[in-house]
Amino acid sequence: MSTLHIVDHPMIQHKLTIMRNKDTSTKDFRELLDEISMLMGYEVTRDFPLEDVEIDTPLEHMTGKQISGKKVAIVPILRAGLGMVDGLHSLVPVAKVGFIGLYRNEETHEPVFYYCKLPKDIDQRWAVVVDPMLATGGSACDAISKVKEQGCTNIRLMCLVAAPEGIARLQKTHPDVDIFTAAVDRQLNDNAYILPGLGDAGDRIYGTK
Ligand code: PRP
Ligand code: URA
Repeated sequence: MSTLHIVDHPMIQHKLTIMRNKDTSTKDFRELLDEISMLMGYEVTRDFPLEDVEIDTPLEHMTGKQISGKKVAIVPILRAGLGMVDGLHSLVPVAKVGFIGLYRNEETHEPVFYYCKLPKDIDQRWAVVVDPMLATGGSACDAISKVKEQGCTNIRLMCLVAAPEGIARLQKTHPDVDIFTAAVDRQLNDNAYILPGLGDAGDRIYGTK
């Protein structure tokens, strides 16, 4: 069974509250998402394996630690997932980035697939699928299926706000995928938007409302 990690550090909660506020500007929203993505990256990468490395400090020889060659792929779900890439990428600069395009059908709320471009060697990488919103869970489930189709076996999902319905669907469909979220909100409304949520993440990042 996948584990749900709620990354609720005070700094993250503080920044998320500003993002939720409807009066927060597009610029501030985007910058806060970037900052939170880097902070969440600490938890998402916590179990990355280390190996010993011999180095010389200016004073003496020592055995240090370094990440043991684990290769990473960051996979944003377009559009809103793009807003989480740079923060995580600044923490893991050698990660490759793949893209999955999905949008929700406004009536059925089910995802419609339109684009997929993943690193060729994603089967040898740890994939972090990123999308700020986990609502019904349809988009994340389909995106993770695409990553699995290309042979990747170590996948985690990083989001910002999750609804109980989306968590349940993801854990049922992909029980091997851990979920990292900054908050679990109350419920979905009749349009499958998260309550209290933060509105339409893509529109708030790109000012398209
Ligand atoms: C939003 C969000 C997720 C999806 C979540 O994207 O960024 O991808 O909805 O909803 P779900 O869990 O019910 O699938 P949207 O479809 O609005 O596309 P956009 O990012 O291009 O605006
Ligand atoms: N997509 C969003 O951007 N926000 C929601 O609340 C649900 C889906």
